[in-house]
Amino acid sequence: MKISTSSSKRSSSSTTFFTLRTFVSFIILAWVLAFAYYMNSPTPNGIVNPWQYKCFNGAKRLVIDMASVISLFTSSHYIIPFRSLIENALPKCQREVPGSNIRSSVTTFGGVKVRLYEPIEKQPGLGPALVFIHGGAFVLGSADMFDMMTRRFAEELDSVVVSIDYRLAPEHPFPAAFEDCITASRWFMDHAEDFNVDRSRIGIAGDSAGGTLTASVSQILHDDGRYPDFAFQALIYPLTQFIDNHTPGSMLSKSLFGMDGAIVTWQEAGEFTCLYFLGRAEQRVVDALIDNTHTSVTFKRESPLAQYVNHTLLPLGMQDYGGYKAPNVDEQRGDDTVWEQLQELILDQRASPLLRPDMKGLPPTFLATCEFDPIRDHGVFYALRLREAGVPVRWEHYDGGFHGVLGPTWPLVFEVGEKIFQDLIVFFKEHLKITEK
Ligand SMILES: *[C@@H]1O[C@H](CO)[C@@H](O)[C@H](O)[C@H]1NC(C)=O
Repeated sequence: MKISTSSSKRSSSSTTFFTLRTFVSFIILAWVLAFAYYMNSPTPNGIVNPWQYKCFNGAKRLVIDMASVISLFTSSHYIIPFRSLIENALPKCQREVPGSNIRSSVTTFGGVKVRLYEPIEKQPGLGPALVFIHGGAFVLGSADMFDMMTRRFAEELDSVVVSIDYRLAPEHPFPAAFEDCITASRWFMDHAEDFNVDRSRIGIAGDSAGGTLTASVSQILHDDGRYPDFAFQALIYPLTQFIDNHTPGSMLSKSLFGMDGAIVTWQEAGEFTCLYFLGRAEQRVVDALIDNTHTSVTFKRESPLAQYVNHTLLPLGMQDYGGYKAPNVDEQRGDDTVWEQLQELILDQRASPLLRPDMKGLPPTFLATCEFDPIRDHGVFYALRLREAGVPVRWEHYDGGFHGVLGPTWPLVFEVGEKIFQDLIVFFKEHLKITEK
């Protein structure tokens, strides 16, 4: 073949151009496909700020995938790189913020790491305080990750806030998280005056797994005659039990979102629970937790504890989802081996505060549940038991809300999350006797 030099040159430069253009198109296409893939979450009608929800869930899925790739090289569970990816993406906590009367610092309470928020210009006399326990399924999250929220609590209340940086699973399985929270709470009550705090005016709040710990800490402190009760407890979409993973709310969530769930997948929920109790993910246990066969048939049929999650306790509108009624705790099926492994752990009231026999005398309670939360019923069961025992309960059910809706901050601002925040502030002020100046 005879090709002139000049034409050869032209064709080579046009090949380069063509290759570059193909390459760029390929990259753009890959981005578009990845974007479409991660933005493609089931989004039922009525969920609050659906596009932001898609972004939030998509971002979480992307980071989980990144963490899973990293974990191939580090031979650790993907939750470990997942944590560091999130921590690194978040802005660093500021000790002081211009225009704010709140200074934050990291310290220890009885050996437990906490992030402490204190007014810079203090009011005379002893004031109230809030203890906060963050969420994250017992495997994730930190006081710093929740800094925006806890700082805002401190600013709104102009009071001391203590955010407990408890130990996480799988490195520190149950009951390490509980131990840290009760230790820090007791230490704070013993030393309240050193922080200009009146120990009879300390409230406690937590979301998700933090709600579980909040409920358990309130109970154990109530039993301990040396301390006053908390002035209140606020449980924000808490987990309250591990004996029934197929409550009507879970099944509703499954029918709307599938196994990918909303924010937390069914697989993740099973794994995180297993990491929390056993310190490792055992496939048989994880599968049983997902399948709700981790409890034995005998327990389901005969234990009085199973009545605490009897589906007929729920308001009628919550028992029924699309005409299908779930059997109570799937009475027909159970894995005795897994039950042997788990029962002592999950029946412990420090893990499942709903299973405490006597709820009398517990602190006045704010309880938030969300429409699209698979563990919606955990909060409902707990609110009903408290009410039955005569505890003052303000139970708010948030239509459009999903599990974790309070957590995200700008640019992902959810109207329902903001509503929960404002309702909490009103409740806190009322029970801490904070009057507007
Ligand atoms: C749930 O409670 C109802 C009403 O008390 C009772 O009839 C039913 O047997 C209970 N279900 C189970 C599985 O125990």
